[in-house]
Amino acid sequence: MSKTHSTKDALAKALEGAQSQTLAVRAGQSRTNEDEHSEALFLTSSYVFKDCADAQARFSGDVEGSVYSRYTNPTVRNFELRLAAMEGAEDCIATSSGMGAIMSMCLAHLSAGDHIVCSSDVFGSTVVLLNNFFAKFGVEISYVKLTDLNGWRDAIRPNTKLFFIETPSNPLNEIGDIRALSTIAKDNSVLFAVDNCFCSPALQLPLSLGADIIIHSATKYIDGQGRCLGGAVVGNAEHIEPVRNVVRAGGPSMSPFNAWVFLKGLETLHLRMKAHSDSALAIAHWLESQAQIEAVFYAGLESHPGHTLAKTQQSHFGGVLSFRVKGDQTAAWRFIEATQVISLTANLGDAKSTIVHPATTTHSRLSPEARATAGITDNLIRVAVGLEALDDLLIDLQRGIDTL
Ligand SMILES: Cc1ncc(COP(=O)(O)O)c(C=O)c1O
Repeated sequence: MSKTHSTKDALAKALEGAQSQTLAVRAGQSRTNEDEHSEALFLTSSYVFKDCADAQARFSGDVEGSVYSRYTNPTVRNFELRLAAMEGAEDCIATSSGMGAIMSMCLAHLSAGDHIVCSSDVFGSTVVLLNNFFAKFGVEISYVKLTDLNGWRDAIRPNTKLFFIETPSNPLNEIGDIRALSTIAKDNSVLFAVDNCFCSPALQLPLSLGADIIIHSATKYIDGQGRCLGGAVVGNAEHIEPVRNVVRAGGPSMSPFNAWVFLKGLETLHLRMKAHSDSALAIAHWLESQAQIEAVFYAGLESHPGHTLAKTQQSHFGGVLSFRVKGDQTAAWRFIEATQVISLTANLGDAKSTIVHPATTTHSRLSPEARATAGITDNLIRVAVGLEALDDLLIDLQRGIDTL
């Protein structure tokens, strides 16, 4: 008996109600007439029209069909549909990087005179983007500590349009209460965007907790092997369509090649995130038991102030942890430089574990006062735990401990 291939519509129907692990492998794919099993890579900037009338109809939007890859590309669309399905969203627009996603979302949803309340614990480039560029166009910005719910309430002004957070935060793993912040945002007709880069949809679904918009740096766990830059804005159609218009007009579109890499990354995302999380938790416990370590910051530890909240909104605790060595910056640098397997690089979300000194790299653009307020001390080290054998990572970290 022969098995007929699923059509695009039959596959979409069969996936209704499917679990995220299945969506990660199957959602969004449309096979071409070649019947390829793996997703096709449409490495093309433009598309050929049948005749002039077809060109006119496709340009006007009267007929569906690609025109130019800054507007649409089938591989990029495949990635968008898969990520939207995993996040439980109606739509997604892919971008050239995570920062491209944040910039496009802000361009779409903010105007001169609007006010944004942003967590003080967000990625450094997000602060630079808001302070150096959006402020120049008349957007007002306030920063509030991620965990200070009263501070978020108090920061609201009549012109507040957007709340923006990252949870867990980088590098101290502070946990923002997505449900509580969404209630404050909704009560005040404010849009609420969550950067879900550290958890990915495998561990946390911000829309189901009340967020309106999700931001991704696909560069991190979605790729998972440190190869490509990319980003995405995910949410319901009313919030994504304006962002799509910005990307089409402004051009921070995702490359089809990168979209293909990310599609393959999504297929293994659940397995990887569980493995990253299991090793990170074991390393966090091990570090906590070392006499030379002053403090460990990982939401999977019961000692972490965000532990109970993290358990209610994340299925695992993720791959990033940080710790303070007993000593100063010199001691932290000595520790980092003693590791041989773990790479000294600022990226995270890679199969290869990475180690970095936040005060002199990722957070070096903050003033000393701002670093102190954020808890980025000179003896703090961040590790993004990869997929190597746990025992080998512990041996490598012991090399660092031995220098203290
Ligand atoms: C939480 C978070 N959001 C956004 C970004 C920016 O992403 P990209 O480097 O892909 O532009 C990063 C990068 O490290 C990040 O850690």
